[in-house]
Amino acid sequence: MLDLELVRSHFPAFDDGKEPRFFENAGGSFACRQTIDALLRFYTETKVQPYAGYAESATAGELMDKSHARWAEALGVADSEILFGPSTSMNTYVLAKAFGERLKPGDEVIVTNQDHEANTGATRRMVEAAGATLREWGVDQTTGELHLADLEALLSSSTKLLTFPHCSNIVGAENDVAAICALARQAGARTIVDGVSYAPHGFVDVGELGADVYLFSMYKTYSVHQGLMVLRDELAEWLPNQSHHFNADAPRKRMAPAGPDHAQVAAAGAVLDYVEATTPGYDGDLRGACEAAKDAWQSHETALLQPVLRWLDARSDVRVVGPTEASAGMHRCPTVAFAAEGQQSAQVAAGLVDHGIMASAGDFYAPRVLDGVGLDVANGVIRVSWVHYTSQADIDHLLTALEQVLG
Ligand SMILES: Cc1ncc(COP(=O)(O)O)c(C=O)c1O
Repeated sequence: MLDLELVRSHFPAFDDGKEPRFFENAGGSFACRQTIDALLRFYTETKVQPYAGYAESATAGELMDKSHARWAEALGVADSEILFGPSTSMNTYVLAKAFGERLKPGDEVIVTNQDHEANTGATRRMVEAAGATLREWGVDQTTGELHLADLEALLSSSTKLLTFPHCSNIVGAENDVAAICALARQAGARTIVDGVSYAPHGFVDVGELGADVYLFSMYKTYSVHQGLMVLRDELAEWLPNQSHHFNADAPRKRMAPAGPDHAQVAAAGAVLDYVEATTPGYDGDLRGACEAAKDAWQSHETALLQPVLRWLDARSDVRVVGPTEASAGMHRCPTVAFAAEGQQSAQVAAGLVDHGIMASAGDFYAPRVLDGVGLDVANGVIRVSWVHYTSQADIDHLLTALEQVLG
């Protein structure tokens, strides 16, 4: 059971009784106090070039190393497999460049049209440049979901790479990453999983999931503006170095050519202190705390999700993208995108803003999925998204605002 009061006490955005009705969390979350404090501490105490012999520098380097170690423990992988880059878009761009140097004509790559453009655009361009063959795993035109049977029909011994999302930033339904990665592995293909829309709702055991690459954006997970990439050692060794030639043997650098943002890397682990601080009876097991937090976050979020989905689904003039019922065994993240018949999405969003709701409309850099379910991409969708710090009162406000705006 989530202690919402305790959770909110760790977010300065709620200090002094403030109650922002914030429904743009899939765009970026509030940062927890631990993150803000760690950043401030780095800038005030250790803002020097790290890894030199003097005390401030050594401490700066230790803090950066600690972030790597903490995230490795949290995500069930090795220290060397945690990489920080400027953003997920940049991390996938570098990956695409590296794969492009390995692929040849006759090789096949599967992408989806459910992805945010960050996990598909650079890969599509890379495939074309390499003279390889692109296959698209398309969404169900009615629900926006991806079906395993459709993937099975695309996989073959020629498939070298599959990119797909853990959860789309529009559809909300969680994809069965473990099953998908197992299928890809059987065919001999590598997997790049975009975890950006899922990670705010739980930090998973990436080792157990079986992905070769798992990415997410920390500015959506109560943390700093960095992209975290888990790159399994075996794949990292196979991919060609993308950094300076003298970094070829440095696991943290060879696939992350941008110079590291020292302060943000040093502060990147602080959100895990938040997870520990809000885990009842925390006993030193960080991986276990992440699991417990995931369960508590998701059951709270799902309880808030049901009335919103029910309300939207009951209207004949509203089309929700993605499943409208959290059916048994299926997890749906609280990212709800919808279009209202005869109304401009931007105007509906403006109406919600007038009623104090922080939300917006657009294609959210995922025009392919809107097209895939037959929606007008130019009109886009209205998207409301929340996380575990959202309250029942926030949802009540949202429903009241929706009633007033949609009539
Ligand atoms: C699902 C998804 N993937 C990837 C990205 C790109 O992340 P970044 O902004 O870190 O490049 C986003 C950003 O909104 C996203 O929602």
